[in-house]
Amino acid sequence: MADLEIRLPDDFHVHLRQGQAMAAYVARTAAHFGRFLAMPNVVPPLSTAGSLADYRLAVTAAVAAAGFDAEPVMCFKLLPGMGRDAVFACAAAGAKAGKYYPAGATTNSSDGIADPGSVSDELDAMEAAGLVLSVHAEDPRSPALEREAAFLPVVDRMVAHHRGLRIVVEHLSTAAAVDAVKLWPERVSATISAHHLAFTIDDMMGDRLDPSYFCRPVLKGARDREALVQAATAGSPRFFFGSDSAPHPPAAKAAGSAGCYSSPVAMSLLAAVFEAAGRLDRLEAFVSENGARFYGLPYNTGKLGLSRSPWTVPSELDGVTPLAAGRLLAWTAARL
Ligand code: DOR
Ligand code: ZN
Repeated sequence: MADLEIRLPDDFHVHLRQGQAMAAYVARTAAHFGRFLAMPNVVPPLSTAGSLADYRLAVTAAVAAAGFDAEPVMCFKLLPGMGRDAVFACAAAGAKAGKYYPAGATTNSSDGIADPGSVSDELDAMEAAGLVLSVHAEDPRSPALEREAAFLPVVDRMVAHHRGLRIVVEHLSTAAAVDAVKLWPERVSATISAHHLAFTIDDMMGDRLDPSYFCRPVLKGARDREALVQAATAGSPRFFFGSDSAPHPPAAKAAGSAGCYSSPVAMSLLAAVFEAAGRLDRLEAFVSENGARFYGLPYNTGKLGLSRSPWTVPSELDGVTPLAAGRLLAWTAARL
């Protein structure tokens, strides 16, 4: 018997990559999540109806091979100049969201958006099609720890100019971003990752440098982390879970790639964070309800069990150093 049973969660932000490695990453996600928003920053990017359809097939086949009942939610990459028709074609191909990457902000984003005004028509089309705008809210021209705060005015302008557009500010990392989300209208919400809730910059570089904790936005300090925990556990429907699980094999990590492979440990970390906040009762809303409601999807029908059964995170999973490698985690997650 699990100590806690919750409705099967959704992960509204995950990088499943492409090619051979994808199968293992998909299996990790499907083990704990009934649905997952698959990020489009593969090469070439998922920016056409055809590429979305192909990617959905590949992911669905990997889910089936892993033996789980789970489904991808599709997201295209918004590219400057892609045009309104391409946006409508992505919507017709089943996309629920389009992802805004500022040019150069993170992995495979050199083709992203340098001038926010350059995608104004596309944002209008997304609004008309009822698509969610998913935003990597960082200005890569700002200092590493200030990039999120520097981008908030850009989100503010999009909120003001596109008055019916639903927006998700992804992977919040600062108290300033939490405060901004609360001030925007209800059609704006935000995801928070397990690593931004559980760790700070000191886990990455306080003692020795540990690249498995290096992600974008970079982990911040204790006060920011506390604001994120407060937002996630307060019971507000505006905040929900997106793992931003972003596996990079050792060679890519050694070359400086940003991303935490968090899928295998995210639910264990979240249970510990919510328990420490005295709010285990609100975990289900954060991982299984708020995001589904925002995306207009029915709740999952399956169940996830969480047990107080400690385990040590292996040093390697699926050819990647996972987040929290070597740590003893108090909670174990498994589908029921
Ligand atoms: O750390 C990150 N890694 N942040 C992102 O936004 C993208 C991701 C990746 O794709 O590697
Ligand atoms: Zn991401």
